[in-house]
Amino acid sequence: MSLDRRHLLQSGAAAVVALLGGTGWADAATPSGGTLLGFGPVPATLFDGITVPPEYAAQVLYPWGSPTGIAGARPAFSPDASNSAADQAVQAGMHHDGMHFFALGRDGRRGLLVMNHEYTDERLLHVDGVAQWTAEKVRKSLHAMGVSVIEIERTAQGWRQVLPSRYARRIHGATPMRIAGPAAGTPWMQTGADVSGRRVFGTFANCAMGVTPWGTYLTCEENFHGYFGGPKDAAADATAAQRRYGTVAGSQWVEYWRFDERFDLSKHPNEANRFGWVVEIDPFDPTSTPVKRTALGRKRQESATCTLTRDGRVAVYMGDDAAFECIYKFVSRDKVRPGHDAAARAANRTLLDQGTLYVARYDADGRGRWLELVHGRGGVDASAGFADQAQVLVQARLAADVVGATKMDRPEWIAVHPQTGEVYVTLTNNALRGAPGRPGVDAANPRAVNLFGGILRWREDGGDAASLDFAWDHFVLAGDPAIADTGARYPRDGDDAFGSPDGLHFDSGGLLWIQTDMSAQLIGSGTHAALGNNQLLCAEPASGRIRRFLVGPRGCEITGCVLTPDRRTLFVNVQHPSERNDDGSGTPQSAWPDGDVPGSARPRSATVVVQRRDGGIVGT
Ligand code: FEO
Ligand code: CA
Ligand code: CA
Repeated sequence: MSLDRRHLLQSGAAAVVALLGGTGWADAATPSGGTLLGFGPVPATLFDGITVPPEYAAQVLYPWGSPTGIAGARPAFSPDASNSAADQAVQAGMHHDGMHFFALGRDGRRGLLVMNHEYTDERLLHVDGVAQWTAEKVRKSLHAMGVSVIEIERTAQGWRQVLPSRYARRIHGATPMRIAGPAAGTPWMQTGADVSGRRVFGTFANCAMGVTPWGTYLTCEENFHGYFGGPKDAAADATAAQRRYGTVAGSQWVEYWRFDERFDLSKHPNEANRFGWVVEIDPFDPTSTPVKRTALGRKRQESATCTLTRDGRVAVYMGDDAAFECIYKFVSRDKVRPGHDAAARAANRTLLDQGTLYVARYDADGRGRWLELVHGRGGVDASAGFADQAQVLVQARLAADVVGATKMDRPEWIAVHPQTGEVYVTLTNNALRGAPGRPGVDAANPRAVNLFGGILRWREDGGDAASLDFAWDHFVLAGDPAIADTGARYPRDGDDAFGSPDGLHFDSGGLLWIQTDMSAQLIGSGTHAALGNNQLLCAEPASGRIRRFLVGPRGCEITGCVLTPDRRTLFVNVQHPSERNDDGSGTPQSAWPDGDVPGSARPRSATVVVQRRDGGIVGT
């Protein structure tokens, strides 16, 4: 059965608006008529800078190394990368990623911008690159990941950081945090340094994010595996679970393990079990302890997108970004206490610790099913190698195999339509689909050697996020439709083409903001020649129109898009400009945002603020 999209949207809209009546969640109706996506054209360009529609202006905010704004601790950025590890702990981290704007007050002029710093480019982070690792470099690298909380305000000259701010905070790879939920305190989480199994230093590899209904920030630990390592000859001892999660000695990306023993898998195998989680942060309380929520399962965590079930519980949708990994949903046991104030945040403090974790199966008939990951049910028991629920959560990928979940083309970000409740997920690409010894195509992942990815969506039965059944279809199969054999399929003729959708955000008006992460090696040539640099597009799901809105500088990924509640400001992150740092000649691709000529300045990830010059609503 194929989905009738129009019927689905119309019936869904009615149902969810009724559900939302009185809750205040549907604070902006979708504007009707032809004004949506009315902005000027943005070409697919390889220009080394920010391109936005002519009637818009863009400004740069908080590039890597900027002081976070902590009183008494505001070291300036050193353009030669000579800032110390201690400096880096109170400066913007590298590689800005998922982000949210939390308004302070009702006039929309002030707010907290909370953002992830995903990973480090060690060649740019240190004066002398990585020729020689040191303990100081390991510390600086750990401090360059995690999360920033900055305070910003709107002025006549645009948005600027409030310096200092009582909210300003850096959470990084050495910040003390708590482990909570069913796996906390179990032998899986115990290490020599923490026999309690409840305390851990740091979060890193923070990619996508989520926001809870009670106003806390969820940061997701994605490619944590690359930081754990050890001597190559220890690789033979790797368990099946370690191999599935990529935590195998000798395969590390960085040499942390030589200087900080907790990253040595041969000595402390359980330390890696303490990463790969959703971490909850209260951005309004800089003294609060971040908490890793084990009930949500361990994976290469992408997204922790929250919505409410019909009976007022929280549902959290999550991706797991690796080839042939799955899509998950957590539904809390208890109901959310409504509100965003300190009392609500306190009342919901343990809400994410009890509930049920599910994984998705997408059937060929356009229907789908949520399969529970509960020890003792569905074959997830001792016969399949699972001793208890803690193991099910720590090794969620293996449990997903047991229940027959669908292996997807790298599920990344998930967004829930604010009016219809439809759920959209980016499947970024999967060049291994159909390769020898690998899964072949299926209905939900219909392209072999999938270089371009797409966006799949579903509607939970009854419009209820707690439902165990849903109907799904593809919103778009990305790529260049002018190339016949790529299998690209857009909702409408004339939609702007793109590849490798990654970040995904619905604004409160129901516009879908799509952010791309095409590989730097593919951009500008071959099958990707017509697609330009990585970019931000805006889609109107009801009509299927998709239009390009912003193109980033060379070698960057575009991510973290979020709009203010009044929709008059859009924030988006430019991650790793000049990623392909040399073309063999040693010349960087980009010096964005500080220089015009590649090589003239160290490229830096940064936030870009976009507003209409007339102050109007962005995207209309
Ligand atoms: Fe950090 Fe899957 O992107
Ligand atoms: Ca990403
Ligand atoms: Ca990506």
